[in-house]
Formats: sequence, structure tokens, C-alpha cells
Amino acid sequence: MLGGMSDGDPGSPVPQPAGVRRLGPEDWKLLRDIRLTALAEAPYAFSSTLAREQGFSEAKWRSRLAETAYFAAWQDGEPAGLAAGLDDAADPARPHLVSMWVSPPARGRGVADAVVAAVAGWARDQGAVALLLWVTDANPRARAFYQRMGFRSTGLRQLVRPEERDHWEEQMTLDLSGADLSGPGTQRSGLTTGSS
Ligand SMILES: CC(C)(COP(=O)(O)OP(=O)(O)OC[C@H]1O[C@@H](n2cnc3c(N)ncnc32)[C@H](O)[C@@H]1OP(=O)(O)O)[C@@H](O)C(=O)NCCC(=O)NCCS
Repeated sequence: MLGGMSDGDPGSPVPQPAGVRRLGPEDWKLLRDIRLTALAEAPYAFSSTLAREQGFSEAKWRSRLAETAYFAAWQDGEPAGLAAGLDDAADPARPHLVSMWVSPPARGRGVADAVVAAVAGWARDQGAVALLLWVTDANPRARAFYQRMGFRSTGLRQLVRPEERDHWEEQMTLDLSGADLSGPGTQRSGLTTGSS
């Protein structure tokens, strides 16, 4: 699904250096392709499904980009990861990290660190004190990654989907006041972060 996708600057024929940038409404096809690839590749990780999102219209992808701060990563000229910050109207100081995914060849190379750092930077810039996320019990790799990044369990648990009684997820939180996310993983990847 990612075949034929452009690099970090969709309008440019010149390959851009590896990096992370925030996606805008004009990137709706790019978001769609990365997201559908993620849902197909790692269905155990998300509460949404490929069946649900592959029917989304252009307007729906554009409205997601308007409502949610999506950051994509490129490595070796290929789209390599995605993460997003989603505001919580009930608790604006604690937005959520959602849609986290790194392509299998890019895993273990610091791409995940870089997109989380970008979302944490976005959250800090708007005055957030913490970042929240939900991770499924069926996802020990993600949990280990989040723990390495400084996330800790809040103890809150819920069903991923109401109809699946044995599929649970747990909430984790990252304290943004002390977190330094420009650490070894990001340096290892050679990725840069930013919202340009
Ligand atoms: C979760 C994800 C973003 C993490 O990115 P990554 O590049 O794989 O992460 P890293 O390799 O840097 O870190 C994973 C850690 O888990 C460890 N790990 C790997 N497999 C593991 C397993 N089965 N059980 C426990 N830990 C595991 C790794 O050793 C590594 O720990 P370390 O850095 O201390 O050595 C990526 O794996 C992914 O996209 N997975 C599918 C989608 C997903 O799960 N999204 C999260 C939704 S909440």
C-alpha cells in the first residue's frame, strides 16, 4: 500500500533527507496510505480496523488532519512511521498519543523515538503537562518501547472493543515536565524532528 509514495516533500521530485514532519490537509493521501498499511500490518495494535477505515472519503481524511496533529517519518526515502497527538476536550492538559506505527523494516532504528518526540513537542508547545495513550495487552513490544521512552501505567484498563470480552488495553502516561526525548534512539536513526 505504501508503494509509489513520495518522500517528505510530496510536491518535490528531489528526495529529501530522512526526517519527521507534521502532515497538513494536502497530505491526506499519504496519511490514508500509511494508516491503511498500519491497520493491515498490525491489527492487534489498534482499536480501529482496516475494514472501517478503508471506506473513509477524502473529506474524512482531511477532517482528521484538521483535528489531529499527525507526524510522519521517512527513512531511506521511504515513509517509515506515523504518530499523532489528539486533544482531549475534557482535559486539554493531557492530549493522547494515537495512531503509533513504524514500518517493520524501520523498527528498532529510532524512528518510533523520533515520532513520539515530535508529538511530545507538539503537546508541550500547547501547554500540556502529560501525554496519555492506550496499549493493548497483546502488544508487549509497544509496551516495552513506551516504558523505555518514560511512559508509566496509570492503572486504568478497558476493553479494546465492547464485543471482544478478552481483549484489554491499559493506559500509560508520560510526564512532559521532565521528559527528554531527544535521546539515543533519535540520534541512532539520524532523524530530525520538527513541525515544518
Ligand atoms: C510499537 C512500535 C511503534 C515500536 O517501535 P520499534 O521501532 O519497534 O521500537 P523499538 O525497537 O525501539 O523498541 C521496542 C522494544 O521492545 C523490545 N521488544 C521487542 N519484542 C518484544 C516482545 N515480544 N516483548 C517485549 N519486548 C519486546 C525491544 O527489545 C525494544 O526494547 P529495547 O529498546 O529496550 O531493546 C512498532 O513496533 C510498531 O509499529 N508496532 C506495530 C504497531 C503498534 O504496535 N503500535 C502501537 C499502538 S499502541
